[in-house]
Amino acid sequence: MRTETPPTIRLEDYRPSSHLIDRVELDVRLAPHETRITATLALRPNPAGEPGVPLVLDGDDVILLALDLDGQALPPDAYAATPSGLTLHRPPARPFTLRIETQVDPTANTKLMGLYRSNGVYCTQCEADGFRRITYFLDRPDVLSVYTTRIEAERDAAPVLLGNGNPVAAGEAGEGRHYAVWHDPHPKPAYLFALVGGRLDKVATRFTTMEGRDVAVAVYVEPGQEPRADYALGAVLRSMRWDEEAFGRAYDLDVFNVVAVSDFNMGAMENKGLNIFNDKYVLASPETATDQDYANIEAIIAHEYFHNWSGNRVTCRDWFQLCLKEGLTVFRDQEFSSDMRSRAVHRIGEVRTLRARQFPEDAGPLAHPVRPRAYAEINNFYTATVYEKGAEIVRMLSTLVGPAPFRAGMDRYYAQNDGRAATVEDFLDAFAVESGRDLAAFAQWYEWPGTPRVEVEGRYDAAERRYTLRFSQDLRGGAPPLVIPVALGLVGASGPISEATCPEVRDGVFVLDRTSAGLTFTNVPEAPVPSLFRGFSAPVRVEIALSDAERLTLLRHDTDAFNRWQAAQSIAMRLLADRGTARAREAEDAGPAAQAYAEALAAFLDAEALADPAFAALVLGLPGEGDVANEIGSDIDPDAIHRARQSLRRHLGRALGERLSRLRADLTEAPGTPFSPDAASAGRRALRNAALDLIAAADPVRGTALARAQIDEATNMTDRLAALGILSLIPGEPREAALAAFGERYADEPLVLDKWFAIQAAIPEDATLARIARLRQHRAFSMTNPNRVRALIGSFALANPTQFNRLDGAGFTLLAETVEALDRTNPQIAAKLLTNFGSWRRLEPARSSKAGEILARIKAVPGLSRDVADIVARTLS
Ligand code: ARG
Ligand code: ZN
Repeated sequence: MRTETPPTIRLEDYRPSSHLIDRVELDVRLAPHETRITATLALRPNPAGEPGVPLVLDGDDVILLALDLDGQALPPDAYAATPSGLTLHRPPARPFTLRIETQVDPTANTKLMGLYRSNGVYCTQCEADGFRRITYFLDRPDVLSVYTTRIEAERDAAPVLLGNGNPVAAGEAGEGRHYAVWHDPHPKPAYLFALVGGRLDKVATRFTTMEGRDVAVAVYVEPGQEPRADYALGAVLRSMRWDEEAFGRAYDLDVFNVVAVSDFNMGAMENKGLNIFNDKYVLASPETATDQDYANIEAIIAHEYFHNWSGNRVTCRDWFQLCLKEGLTVFRDQEFSSDMRSRAVHRIGEVRTLRARQFPEDAGPLAHPVRPRAYAEINNFYTATVYEKGAEIVRMLSTLVGPAPFRAGMDRYYAQNDGRAATVEDFLDAFAVESGRDLAAFAQWYEWPGTPRVEVEGRYDAAERRYTLRFSQDLRGGAPPLVIPVALGLVGASGPISEATCPEVRDGVFVLDRTSAGLTFTNVPEAPVPSLFRGFSAPVRVEIALSDAERLTLLRHDTDAFNRWQAAQSIAMRLLADRGTARAREAEDAGPAAQAYAEALAAFLDAEALADPAFAALVLGLPGEGDVANEIGSDIDPDAIHRARQSLRRHLGRALGERLSRLRADLTEAPGTPFSPDAASAGRRALRNAALDLIAAADPVRGTALARAQIDEATNMTDRLAALGILSLIPGEPREAALAAFGERYADEPLVLDKWFAIQAAIPEDATLARIARLRQHRAFSMTNPNRVRALIGSFALANPTQFNRLDGAGFTLLAETVEALDRTNPQIAAKLLTNFGSWRRLEPARSSKAGEILARIKAVPGLSRDVADIVARTLS
C-alpha cells in the first residue's frame, strides 16, 4: 500500500448538513474490549440542506451490530455500513428515529481518540472527529443535539461514572454492574461529548454563580493524588468568578467536573460540564511542580472553563472557524492570567511563546492563515497560528475598538449566536455594530499567512521641535494592507515626552491601515526615541534602526514594561545574531557593545531587581538559540549560534558575577518560609535562578558547587529543577551523580521524570544521542504515553538545536524513526513530532540537504497515516 495524497477539504465547499439530529440518547455499556453503544437519534431533514439526498453518517473503526428505523429493522439494500461510514440510501423525508448499535474496543484504542482507556480509566476525546469512533453520526460541529447518556460498567472497575450535563439517575444494573444517567440540556456538537468511568477520587467544593445557581465543582484524580488537585480546584473557582466579572458569563449547569488522565494527546478538552485534562495540567505539589507548572495549570483550567461560553454555548460552524473558539479563548485565558499575576510579565511570556512557536511556523512550509482555507487532516491545524496568532487578532480588535465597545461586542456576539454554530464573520459583525467601525479590512488578518514586517523611520527637526515617523508595511504575497494598531509614545533622555502631540494618535494608538503612512508629532523638546508597538500591540516584525544607546534609553525610561524588556532583548539579539553565523570568528573577547550591555544590565539590576524580580529575571534572560535562528533567518548554523550564546552568557556572568551573588543572597527566603506558588514568590525564584545560570556560565566550578547545594537544599521543584538544568550543562561526574540521584528520588513520579527526561534530552553534546537511547529503555519511558514521548523526543527536537540538527543527520534520523514507529499507534502525536522539521530549508546547506533526504524517506514509507502524510507533504512542498 502506498501513501496516497490525502483528499483536501475546502472552506468554499461548505454546505449545510442534509439532516439535523435534535436529540441523542446513548446507552454505553463499558467493557474493556467489547464496549457496546446504542445510539437513538432523533433525525429530521435540514430545512437549509439539500433535500432528497442519502443520509451519510460518519464512522471510524466501529462495528455495526444492529440498526433500525422507527422501530423497524432495515432491509439490507436500504443501507450500506463500513467501519468508516453508514449510508441510508433513501431516508424518509420527515422526522424519524434511527437506532444504531455499535461495538468498539477501548483497550485497543492507542490513537487516544474516541473512547479509550488510560491507566484503566475509561475516557473519551472527541474533538475534532473522535465521536465517529464511538457511533455513526453526523460528526460535524454545525449539528447540535441535546444528549442523554446512560453509562453502565462493572462497579468495581468503574465506581465513578461521569457524563456531560447534570446527573439525573443512578442505580444497580445486576451482576456487579451499575449505571448512571446524565442529561445535558444545552444543544452541542458531538465533539463536546464525553464520558468517564473508573476508579477515581475527587476534591470538591461548591460555587454560587452571580445568577444564584449552586454548582457542585469537583476535580477527579487517581486515588491518592487528591492533595495535588487542590490548586486546580482553586483555579476553577477563580475562573468562574473572573468570567462573571470580566465578561458577565455565568456557569450554566449544576455540576462542573474536571478529570485528570495520564494518557492524553493534548493539554485538555472543554467537553460540556466534563473537562478532561492531561494530568500534567492538573496535578501540583511544591515537591513535584514548578512555578511554570502552577501557572500552566491555572491558565489551562481557565482556558477550558472559558470555552463553556466561547466554544460551547457559541460553537463553530465548521473546522475552518477553529480560531473562533481557540484564538478567542486563548485571549480570554491570557487576560485572566494577567489579572491573576503580573500583566507585564505575563505579556512578555505570551510574546516569547508567539515568537518561538508561531513566527517560525509562519515563516516555513507549514504556514497557514489563522482561518485556513483548506485542510487534509484537521487535527494538524491545532497550531500556534490558530491559537496564538488567533489570540493576537482578538487583542488587536480590543485595542482598535476600545474597552467598552469590545465588551459590548462580546455581549452581542454571545447574545446573537447562543446555541448556534458561528463563523468569524458573525464574530466581527458584533464588534462592527457596537463600535460603528467597518471591520472588513481588519478581517484580512484571518486570511493571510506570514508575519508582516513593518519598517519605521524617525526624523527629528530640532528647529521646528517636530518629530516625524514614517511607517510602511510589506504586502506579503499580494496581501492587501493590514489594519495594524501601533501603540506608541516618545521617550527622551530623562523620561517620557508627554507634551508631544500628534492628531493621528488617539489614546496612545495609531492605526496603520495603508501601505505606508507618516506621523508628525509637534512640541517635541528634544530628539526622542520612539517606543513602538507598546505591549506588542500587533504580531509583526518591526524594523527600525535604533542605536544601542537609544535602546538603553527605552530600557531606562519607557513607561511600557514590554518595550523596556524588548529594548534589552534587541541589544542582546543583535550581539547574538552578529556572532551566530558560521562566518563570525569564535571571538571570546566580548567587544565594546557587549561591555556596554553588561554595564547597562548592572545599572538596571541595582535600581530595580529587588523591586520587581520577575521582570528583572526576564530582562536578564537572553534570547534562546531558536530565537536567534529565527532572527538570522537563513543559512542557519546552530553550532555557531550556540557558541555565540554561550560566550555572551559567560561574558555577562563575569561582568555581573558579584552583583548576581549578592542578589541571590538578598532574594533567599528565610528558612521555614512556607512555599507559595504566587507570582511574587515565583518571581524571586526566577531571578535567583537566572542569576545562578549566568554565574555558572562564567565559573563552572563555582556553578557546580552552588547548583549541587541548591539541589540538596531546595524545598520546591522550581529551585531543584533549575539547579539540575544548570548543572546539566556542565559535563562531569557531579552532573551524572545529580541526574542519577534525581532519577531515583522521583522514580515513582512520572510527571517529574518527564522533566528529568527533558533536561537530559536537551544537553548540547554529542553523547546525548546515546543518552537518549539509554533513556528509551528506562522503566518509566513508554512510547504509548504522549507525555513521555514529548518529554524525551519532543524536547530533543525542540530544545536541543545543535544535536537535533547534527551535521551527520543522526538527530534527524532519531526523530524520523520515532515518527515512523509512533505513526502505527498514535498518528496525531507522530504528526506533531514531525512538525519539528518545519524550518529545515533555512538551515545551512549541508544540514538542510540531510533533513531533506530524511523527510523524503519518511514520505516513501508505505501506509502512512493521513496525519503524517499531510505534514510530510506540506513540509517538503
Ligand atoms: N479544544 C482543546 C483546547 O484547546 C484542544 C483539542 C485539541 N484537539 C485535537 N484534535 N488536536 O482546549
Ligand atoms: Zn481551546
